[in-house]
Amino acid sequence: MTVKKPLVQALQGKSDCQIPLWMMRQAGRYLPEYKKLRAEAGDFLSLCYSPSLAAEVTLQPIRRFDFDAAILFSDILVVPDALGQRVWFVTGEGPKLEPLDQNDFSGLDIGKINSHLAPVFETVSRVKDGLEDNKALIGFCGAPWTVATYMVAGEGTKEQAPARLWAYQDEQAFSRLIDILTEASIIYLKGQIEAGVDVVQIFDSWAGSLAENEREKWCLEPLRKISRAIKEAHPEIPIIGFLRGAPLVYQEMAKIADIEGVGIDTASDIDFARETLSGKKTIQGNLDPLALLAGGDALDEGIDRILEGFGETAFIFNLGHGILPETPIAHVEYLVAKVRAYSKATRGA
Ligand code: CP3
Repeated sequence: MTVKKPLVQALQGKSDCQIPLWMMRQAGRYLPEYKKLRAEAGDFLSLCYSPSLAAEVTLQPIRRFDFDAAILFSDILVVPDALGQRVWFVTGEGPKLEPLDQNDFSGLDIGKINSHLAPVFETVSRVKDGLEDNKALIGFCGAPWTVATYMVAGEGTKEQAPARLWAYQDEQAFSRLIDILTEASIIYLKGQIEAGVDVVQIFDSWAGSLAENEREKWCLEPLRKISRAIKEAHPEIPIIGFLRGAPLVYQEMAKIADIEGVGIDTASDIDFARETLSGKKTIQGNLDPLALLAGGDALDEGIDRILEGFGETAFIFNLGHGILPETPIAHVEYLVAKVRAYSKATRGA
């Protein structure tokens, strides 16, 4: 008999399974064991491209907290790197990318995705070997829009102004870049699925900076294309879409046939999210990472509101955005115990 994975059950629409729990950015700098291994590995991308180290880092939070899912340790910016745009990470500053020539980016080559990212696929196989049968492995990519914001600016920017401006000034060229990234994302996610991931999540962290009609073009349309292509090739693999900063978009996401899960961010209204999505999509979210950092009453109230709001629906407990490096380990332990106790008491699982 195959062992059930609560994350997959929830994404199949079940609301009576154990409430699955994982955290965005769960492998990372709040964990002493990550910091130790990171220091030994040298630069961040070498860690992403070292299957043995990346697999170890992927499994660290599962060993410590018994989460229901591991998320592949990699980064959304390995895709531009694989396309031929040089990427590096500066400690304390974040990602840097070699400037993209907006008049000629014909050098970006999707033909190299599979060979360049072979070490990431190897990480997936290794993690699968080390993961218990009731735990799911999540693969991911950045959504084309979010990845494009870094490619155009050459670094993270506050309001993603360089990419938004280029999209207005030369819509055709920007559209070509989004198409390349859509194609690259499909290849990359298929590679992860073929290597063994159980679920994929598409991170559109900067969806919120776009005007509504632009968001339709640069976020929703690519999401529909990517999810359609993945579903055609791998109908059994659930897909979670996370468009941060644009709660009204849930009405549109509820209609996308090929996604099963919708990640909701910290600022989302719980009642609105439930009314819009429940019965149509599995909801994932949305504890404020700062409430987790703060602990105490803020943490208790945050957890209670989410469990009361979503506990009776198909739901995955998560944060509203990535865990912060300063977060005390004890607060994460407290969160896990509290969600587990609620799940046992209300669902018997
Ligand atoms: O545990 C996991 O979630 C898996 C691995 C993962 C990383 N990045 C590792 C990482 C995932 C899923 C991501 C996604 C990612 N990367 C996003 C989308 C999600 C989000 O948080 O909005 C974005 C926008 C990026 C790009 C990126 N990578 C930035 C802006 C930075 C610098 C800021 C930061 O958090 O340090 C990174 C670096 C990065 N990616 C680190 C980790 C663990 C820290 C690097 C280090 O160890 O020095």
